[in-house]
Amino acid sequence: MENRILKDENDRVDGFLKVTGGAKYFAEYELPGLTYGVLVTSTITKGKITSLDTKAAEKAPGVIAVLSHLNKPSAPAYEQEGGSQMKIFYTDKIFYNGQPIAIVVANTFERATYAASLVKTSYAKEDFNTNLDKAIKDPKAKKLQGQPDYKRGVENAYKTAEIKIEQQYILPIETHNPMELHGIIADWRPANKVTVYAKTQGVKATQGTIANVFKIPIENIQVNSEFVGGGFGMGLKTWPLEIATVMASKHVGKPVKLVITRMQMFTMVGNRPTAIQKVGLGATKDGKLTGITHTAFGESATYENFTEGVVNMAKFMYQCDNVNTSYTIVPVDLGVPIWMRGPGEATGAFALESAIDEMAHELDMDPLDFRIKNDPEMDQQKNKPFSSKNIKEAYKLGAAKIGWSERKNKPGSLVEGPWQTGYGVSVGVFNANRGKASVKGTLKADGTLLLQSATSDIGPGTGTGMGLIASKLLNIPTNKITFELGDSSLPPAPSQGGSATLSTIGSAVNDVCLALKSTIAELAANSNMDATSNFVDVLKKNKLPSVEITKESQSGKERDNYSMYSFSIHFVQVKVHKLTGVVKVSKIVSVGDSGKIVSPKTARSQMVGGAVGGIGMALTEEAILDHRYGRYINNNFADYHVPVNADVPEIDVIFIDKPDFLVNPMGAKGMGEIALIGFSAAVANAVFNATGKRIRTLPITPDKIL
Ligand code: MOS
Repeated sequence: MENRILKDENDRVDGFLKVTGGAKYFAEYELPGLTYGVLVTSTITKGKITSLDTKAAEKAPGVIAVLSHLNKPSAPAYEQEGGSQMKIFYTDKIFYNGQPIAIVVANTFERATYAASLVKTSYAKEDFNTNLDKAIKDPKAKKLQGQPDYKRGVENAYKTAEIKIEQQYILPIETHNPMELHGIIADWRPANKVTVYAKTQGVKATQGTIANVFKIPIENIQVNSEFVGGGFGMGLKTWPLEIATVMASKHVGKPVKLVITRMQMFTMVGNRPTAIQKVGLGATKDGKLTGITHTAFGESATYENFTEGVVNMAKFMYQCDNVNTSYTIVPVDLGVPIWMRGPGEATGAFALESAIDEMAHELDMDPLDFRIKNDPEMDQQKNKPFSSKNIKEAYKLGAAKIGWSERKNKPGSLVEGPWQTGYGVSVGVFNANRGKASVKGTLKADGTLLLQSATSDIGPGTGTGMGLIASKLLNIPTNKITFELGDSSLPPAPSQGGSATLSTIGSAVNDVCLALKSTIAELAANSNMDATSNFVDVLKKNKLPSVEITKESQSGKERDNYSMYSFSIHFVQVKVHKLTGVVKVSKIVSVGDSGKIVSPKTARSQMVGGAVGGIGMALTEEAILDHRYGRYINNNFADYHVPVNADVPEIDVIFIDKPDFLVNPMGAKGMGEIALIGFSAAVANAVFNATGKRIRTLPITPDKIL
């Protein structure tokens, strides 16, 4: 990476490029002979294509080809029966409204767009349903187990408890909506060589999917994705639109670029699905939890199943001997969902952490005291100790910072003019994941270190974190360290997802650096140099331009013996306007209990980003369907509201910053997901504290408060 201006070692290595336009995103690559793809999409929700007339489109100026199920562009894997993913252009079936059914390739984007409008389609329509609630209530609708039922102790013990609550919580569809639109540039060259510029969270994953679909060797496929303009989970899959573009490039023998529209971002690249959940809690009068029942229904698609960990948190977050959960997925006639920041847990935490607050209210206890009273000594689900958990300390620090002592347990107590003030708290938790990855390290006689791994960076600052790990171990300033990623030819690494990148790739960086260090020490000893000699001198003395080492790293057996999670506590203060029902988040304190903080600046940014996403989830974000047509009605940034600067107060981030060396050699645990998980419940709990109104359906819009 060139042009790195680092004022101090914590600065983002890619910051300069990102704010000056120097960072190159997939759509900005200009290949010779580049052509442009535009998708034609279904205008019905379910049924069959009866005719697809492409004649006018094919005759339009600049058009090179129109591909659809009629000419079945080559994709050998799709010739086979079975498989659970949508085989684009290999079916005349319509599974949802907005499904891609043809791609028009032309020599300019405008011509492709115009020609796409000339494709005429007729359909045989069938009855459909895009409404989860309706499907749940319909005994004939298909329902599938999303996860095996879980039970410890007595089932539904909450029902016989001294104090009980039972409530239903509803989340709407949320779409990821990163600033950068999705798409791909595919360049299929002779002899089945493929180069793509992709928006992906995993260059190796994209490479693997293309190899599988087109049945070509993995070495023939080069995936480039150095910069990604936001992902939030939508880039964890190679979507049909990407396969369509690769098909098109193969067919026309030219590179093809496809960038979907903002409207298509709502239908082609997944979403956080609607969920309808029930939580039942039972407790003794003095505030000990005696029963937790969490049942969830989540949306899925008819052509592909989607599951996430919606009910996981209920199984271990609180000390309770009687817990049972169930999670059912219900296919509806919509595009398949995908993980979205804090997948599953963010959905589940809204329900569970709202319910915990409701129970505390029933008991007339401070919700923080209630949580502390039911804090588990160990993971009762796995029957293992936690590798680390500093939640009580996190509660204390966060409470002091937000001014929790100002909070009144009686809702509606703090009123100033038309504004009612309330405080809320919630916990977030996510697996402290760690996978397997390889990193190559090259120490050069010019004093620099090059680290390379085929991971991706969707924004959290991977290169910065890796540089800091290496800098400490080898005592090299961060501006002399380059971390290369986003290139499938580099040593293999998993996708960036599940808050695991720093843990997974960082561990391999750690191992490579230690190996380089001992190699340098050996070289020094062999050439009668002092063991503490600078590597530049050692390399020069040995007449070596560089030394390079590749290391693969993965979890040890500690993972079998401990329960490993990252935790977060979100405190919010809200002000609710009595007459308009407007909710303003006026203070935020997010506390991360995520092990050692390797990169303070980017770690803080993760927590800030999660809080901003959390404000959206709590107050504004909702993709609204017109169930009569199965179509979205707010599929743009004007009508789908994400928080803007005016919605976001100053955010205080506190880290416990205690290493957990059971997870990895840096002692660091992930934080991408915990930054968001639980946040929406903290807002809902604060709104209740301010007004006495419990809003159980997100987002908390003024109409629900009035
Ligand atoms: Mo995250 S939903 O694993 O990108």
